[in-house]
Amino acid sequence: MVAHNQVVLPSPTGIYAHIVGWGMAVPDTVLTNQELEAIVETSDEWIRTRTGIAERRIAGERESTASLGLKAGRRALEVADVLPTDIDLIIVATSTPENIFPSTASLIQNWLGATKAGAFDLSAACSGFVYAVDMAAQSIRSGSIKVAVVIGAETMSRVMDWQDRGTCILFGDGAGAVVLKASEVEGGVLSAVLRSDGSGSDLLGIPTVGSGDLRNPDFATNGHKMHKMHMNGGEVFKFATRVIGESITQALDKANLNIEDVSLIVPHQANLRIIQAAARSLKVEPELFMSNVDRYGNTSAASIPIALCEAVQQGRIKPDDNIAFIGFGGGLTWASMVVKWTGSKVLERSNGGILRPQRRQFSYLLARWRANLRRFSKFLERVRPNRGRILRLRDKLDQLD
Ligand code: COA
Repeated sequence: MVAHNQVVLPSPTGIYAHIVGWGMAVPDTVLTNQELEAIVETSDEWIRTRTGIAERRIAGERESTASLGLKAGRRALEVADVLPTDIDLIIVATSTPENIFPSTASLIQNWLGATKAGAFDLSAACSGFVYAVDMAAQSIRSGSIKVAVVIGAETMSRVMDWQDRGTCILFGDGAGAVVLKASEVEGGVLSAVLRSDGSGSDLLGIPTVGSGDLRNPDFATNGHKMHKMHMNGGEVFKFATRVIGESITQALDKANLNIEDVSLIVPHQANLRIIQAAARSLKVEPELFMSNVDRYGNTSAASIPIALCEAVQQGRIKPDDNIAFIGFGGGLTWASMVVKWTGSKVLERSNGGILRPQRRQFSYLLARWRANLRRFSKFLERVRPNRGRILRLRDKLDQLD
């Protein structure tokens, strides 16, 4: 174990990446364990004792990964008091993107009116949020960008095999987001450890287009259903309990901190038993871990930012606290991060500026007008040639007379 040390390691560029905004969005529709009893052969008692889950949220017809991500992103911008036009980069970590392309991040970029931002989706399953925050923090610390929005957003209910009781009881829908900002104030993202072991790729996955030979789906997906999640629960459980403690310790070492310096661990919310096993392996009280898996189930890449938002709401994180994130899941992938918490009021506001909430609303309105205008001009493009064809057809009919 390294020496006890609270001093923040210096950034080579003198720039630090701080989390200054956070937001979450979950669908209104609640699916309880009792309701699941009508869908698959299971029981409330079995699900609670094996997973700690009591209910999860399910996206409605008009909700999607992008619409949930947009809501969470807007809320994070409010907390950070950042204008959409100040955003340099948007990353959406998701396993349930709207499309293979365009990215969900690009859709959200457009709806926010983030006209100066690059945008892409990141695929690292339930570790995706930690991977994405690290990518954004590295871009900020290098001096290449100043403001990034990282969103974890999922509609897992759309990729569930609702006949597979081993998976469908575990997952739910939702989104969470953070805003990261550059500052010379020491702190923010202190360290991260990202890992992958593709030899476990068949333990947890969602086969999709590009899965081997699609003319032979069984071969292509190794017997799994196309576009549906499959999982070897027992093996994933063993993997998760093995990597959590190890990975957090590595990230703490990198930040020159000990577990005693950490005031809260925000883990991926997969299963309460996994969290309890992780606490035992780190020899800490389970209360050191934030958990809300009982109300949302496993929302994959969205689970850490959703749990983070609720931890802040509950007053469990204060400025200057050292907190840790740990994500694990398909890939297999896992990732830990240590953050010196900043809060929303610590950094000086850039661009000074008055009427910022109104300017944000105007940006959203402008984005909607722009999208409608584009759609209308596309419609005109489609209609005009048709009109031409109709006129030509009418001319031909006229010639027949
Ligand atoms: N309801 C009732 N019984 C169920 C059930 C359900 N939803 N799902 C499985 N069972 C049954 C099994 O068929 C098995 O019955 P059998 O003994 O007659 O064969 C029994 O319960 C035990 O199954 P098992 O798979 O050994 O249970 P488990 O204690 O390992 O719990 C999980 C299953 C899925 C809850 C557990 O393995 C787990 O949480 N794994 C990690 C999953 C995860 O977090 N994945 C995402 C990571 S990002």
